[in-house]
Amino acid sequence: MNDATLIELSAEETYDLRRRVLRVGTPSTAVQWQGDSLDTTTHLGVSGTDTIVAISTWLKSQSPDLDRPHAGVQLRGMATDPAARGHGYGSMLLLAGIDRARRSGAHHVWANARTATLDFYIAHGFKVTSSELENAETAIPHRRILMYLRPPTDTNLLEL
Ligand SMILES: CC(C)(COP(=O)(O)OP(=O)(O)OC[C@H]1O[C@@H](n2cnc3c(N)ncnc32)[C@H](O)[C@@H]1OP(=O)(O)O)[C@@H](O)C(=O)NCCC(=O)NCCS
Repeated sequence: MNDATLIELSAEETYDLRRRVLRVGTPSTAVQWQGDSLDTTTHLGVSGTDTIVAISTWLKSQSPDLDRPHAGVQLRGMATDPAARGHGYGSMLLLAGIDRARRSGAHHVWANARTATLDFYIAHGFKVTSSELENAETAIPHRRILMYLRPPTDTNLLEL
């Protein structure tokens, strides 16, 4: 992790890793996603010596699991280059994005997490908020996850 630097990316700079990691064998191979170009969307990456080794996208969006309106941030498109996994880049992005969301005044961060990676998110403090779902773009089982950044007030998820 010596030469790793956290950087802001353009949407276009996420496309290569999205294509190679997140849209392999999926019904949709589109790497340009809704909300990518909004002013309220941030793409965070980790740059290695000369390449982008990890990507993530953070959108202004409320979790569908909360029963009252709150300022939420949705994490999408988290991926680390297969050759660079296990070096802490995913954690680095997750912690940086959560920190930014907290400093922006957001109430929570949520995501549709691939079931196969749930433990990664749970280890970083996320809670599972849905049963298993499959989305049309990937046909991969997901579960929604959520992390409160402020004390919870929603009656439906108070136990988290
Ligand atoms: C999930 C992913 C982004 C993690 O990236 P990474 O850079 O390897 O993560 P880190 O090196 O920061 O790993 C942090 C910890 O999480 C663990 N971890 C990483 N991937 C994991 C996974 N898929 N399941 C469970 N634990 C995982 C690591 O073992 C490590 O644990 P440790 O701190 O005890 O050693 C990466 O595996 C990936 O790109 N997967 C394929 C795409 C994907 O599924 N993205 C998520 C979509 S919801």
